Amino acid sequence: TWTTEAFVEESIREIKAKVGDKKVLLALSGGVDSSTLAFLLHRAIGDKVTCMFIDQGFMRKGEPERLMEIFDRQFNIPVAYVNARERFLDKMEGVTDPEIKRRLIGHEFIHVFESESEKLGPFDYLAQGTLYPDVIESADTNVDPKTGERVAVKIKSHHNVGGLPENLRFKLVEPLRKLFKDEVRKVARSIGLPEEIVRRHPFPGPGLAIRIIGEVTSERLNILRDADFIVRDEISKQGVYHDYWQAFAVLLPIRSVGVMGDKRTYAHPVVLRFITSEDGMTADWAKVPYDLLETLSNRIVNEVKGVNRVVYDITSKPPGTIEWE
Ligand code: XMP
Repeated sequence: TWTTEAFVEESIREIKAKVGDKKVLLALSGGVDSSTLAFLLHRAIGDKVTCMFIDQGFMRKGEPERLMEIFDRQFNIPVAYVNARERFLDKMEGVTDPEIKRRLIGHEFIHVFESESEKLGPFDYLAQGTLYPDVIESADTNVDPKTGERVAVKIKSHHNVGGLPENLRFKLVEPLRKLFKDEVRKVARSIGLPEEIVRRHPFPGPGLAIRIIGEVTSERLNILRDADFIVRDEISKQGVYHDYWQAFAVLLPIRSVGVMGDKRTYAHPVVLRFITSEDGMTADWAKVPYDLLETLSNRIVNEVKGVNRVVYDITSKPPGTIEWE
């Protein structure tokens, strides 16, 4: 029978045998797959693996700091932190079209990835948290016709980038390729990754940038980050985080009139998006208790400057998508 301990030992052996003393690059995203991967690679080959974390500035409140803390302090795994916040934000200036926004973020990610890996490298291998369903999906596209070996043609968390440039076509090491998501979670838990990573709701590669409708500015990022934090804080406190597939806030660029104290306000609405789902392919809007909606609405309007209205999205997928962009 399959056990997490046997899997960990076997993968460490396999990584050692495959990689030898070659150098490996790993891009941490903060999710369960890349975090588990970092642990396995580091246990197998120590400082031959370089874990790189690109902070594009679109993560949630406290998330980059927390990730660094977990790897640095708890696991003693050094992480090369790349602060690319300015670069990404500059790219967002004047951009309102969702597809262009996604494409620009994807391309910028590749640029930063490329220049940073040049600085830190050279590397022979790229470690990717490919899971079994991804292997099936990309069966032919990722195989080098000459060697038959799997190579990186895309970077996993940014599916919508055209493809990697020729010089970034690393050979791949993919220790999770035989696992399903629930098995990765078991492994992650057994090696001591905290629950906040193990059972984190799915979070898109472009992050909060695609939850700000219209132009992404630092002011809007701050507003959304605070609203999103209240959502996570409240559902964690009430012990209902895992009742939902995803639960998040979306910031709208329009403004509406409100009144606070004896003053008229003119500020942004925040949309609450809570959904239940099996796999993210289809989803239902969640029948969230009124009490929770009330608490969230009060807290967001009172605690987040720049927001004076909270609305609830009652659209399932299809016809809606989970994200707004
Ligand atoms: P949609 O909005 O298409 O989302 O119904 C389905 C699921 O995919 C997530 N999502 C992404 N994940 N990169 C990712 O890694 C992305 O660009 C991306 N866009 C959407 C979304 O959060 C939901 O779980």
